Amino acid sequence: MEKVCLIGAGSTKYGKLEDSITDIALQASVDAIESAGISPKEIQAGYISNVFGIADKQVHLGPVIMSNLGIPEVPSLSIESACGSGSVSFREAYANVAAGFYDVILATGVEKVTHTGTEWTTTYFSYCSDFFYEGGAGASFPGLFASMARAYLSEFKATEEDLAKVAVKNHDNGLLNPKAHLRKKISVDDVLKSAVVASPLKLYDCCPFSDGASAVILCSEKFAKAHTKNYVEVIGSGRGGSPAALQGRDHITTIPSTKIAAQAAYKMAGITAKDVDFAEVHDCFTIAELVDTEDLGFFEKGKAVEAVREGRTKLNGDISINPSGGLKSKGHPIGATGIGQVAEVFDQLTGKAGERTVKDAKIGLTHNFGATGASCAVHIFRSV
Ligand SMILES: CC(C)(COP(=O)(O)OP(=O)(O)OC[C@H]1O[C@@H](n2cnc3c(N)ncnc32)[C@H](O)[C@@H]1OP(=O)(O)O)[C@@H](O)C(=O)NCCC(=O)NCCS
Repeated sequence: MEKVCLIGAGSTKYGKLEDSITDIALQASVDAIESAGISPKEIQAGYISNVFGIADKQVHLGPVIMSNLGIPEVPSLSIESACGSGSVSFREAYANVAAGFYDVILATGVEKVTHTGTEWTTTYFSYCSDFFYEGGAGASFPGLFASMARAYLSEFKATEEDLAKVAVKNHDNGLLNPKAHLRKKISVDDVLKSAVVASPLKLYDCCPFSDGASAVILCSEKFAKAHTKNYVEVIGSGRGGSPAALQGRDHITTIPSTKIAAQAAYKMAGITAKDVDFAEVHDCFTIAELVDTEDLGFFEKGKAVEAVREGRTKLNGDISINPSGGLKSKGHPIGATGIGQVAEVFDQLTGKAGERTVKDAKIGLTHNFGATGASCAVHIFRSV
């Protein structure tokens, strides 16, 4: 296999955006192309992750983006894997460079949903669950993650304050990220006093609905070396699956797909969880970050909660979790999120993360899943 590298990354701000889905996808793509210092003509394929283009009247986004970049002849593929679309698309782009099919790929993720309103967006998102057992029976994502939270709080003697601490940490990080959706300092008390969405989860335990786009440029090592000294290597890539509905799982305080994807990625990279300096993980709800950091092997089962209490996951703690602010504060434009995580790792490892830089970081990990973890991809990156 060819070594695969990252040479550029770009993002729009996440939040409520007025431009069309095509425009924001282009803004992020151009940003990534300029950051890589290449010409669009050097791109050989495009991978576009998106879930609800139909809500902004544009599906088949690949050719539209390639045409607007002035490279209509370049092949492209749109990929949907619910909230994990970005990482799954990144994996396909990675595999195609690794296999030697292409030297340079543009991977762009985009979502635009805030204009449809909370009621409709919640309904659309529920189509990503196992609709027969979950969405169609009235279980929205806040409800499903609330079930996981209830089980976790009772199994591991954790409290709602512990969940709140995850939100406070991620809001603190998001304050340092100019592109984050919710840039607001909050306290544990603010979280506990915010409106109940699905008990025990409250408003500040939830990620917001966000619009946004992110893009990265993947390439072969040969191409990277010929273009720049400041690039990042992809050293591990893993994918996993879980029963689509929560009811099909033996335990709901762990996500099988995360464990499978992480093991595959660590094995490929030849490292263990202890070697990772920071991670962008899928904290769609505060409970998810606790479960993720255990499934990724950073903490033993039931111990993530102690790590959060002790501040070990804060920026420049033992392991910085979600230095970007995570889905909770940076925002969660679902088709873009997985690519946005990779863009954050690129910025961190190439000295472009400004005030939120994780000191002396060499190895970063991204973890992004679809729905309640039915599909998942984990990637590991190293600075050169
Ligand atoms: C939590 C949730 C129900 C809130 O929706 P809502 O009550 O309609 O919120 P609104 O959009 O009306 O916003 C009301 C206020 O709360 C803020 N807000 C909205 N969602 C927020 C969130 N998740 N965290 C913090 N603040 C939030 C808004 O900025 C707004 O603030 P303002 O009045 O100062 O402008 C919605 O954000 C949600 O469902 N999030 C989860 C999304 C999801 O399931 N994603 C997939 C994960 S798998």
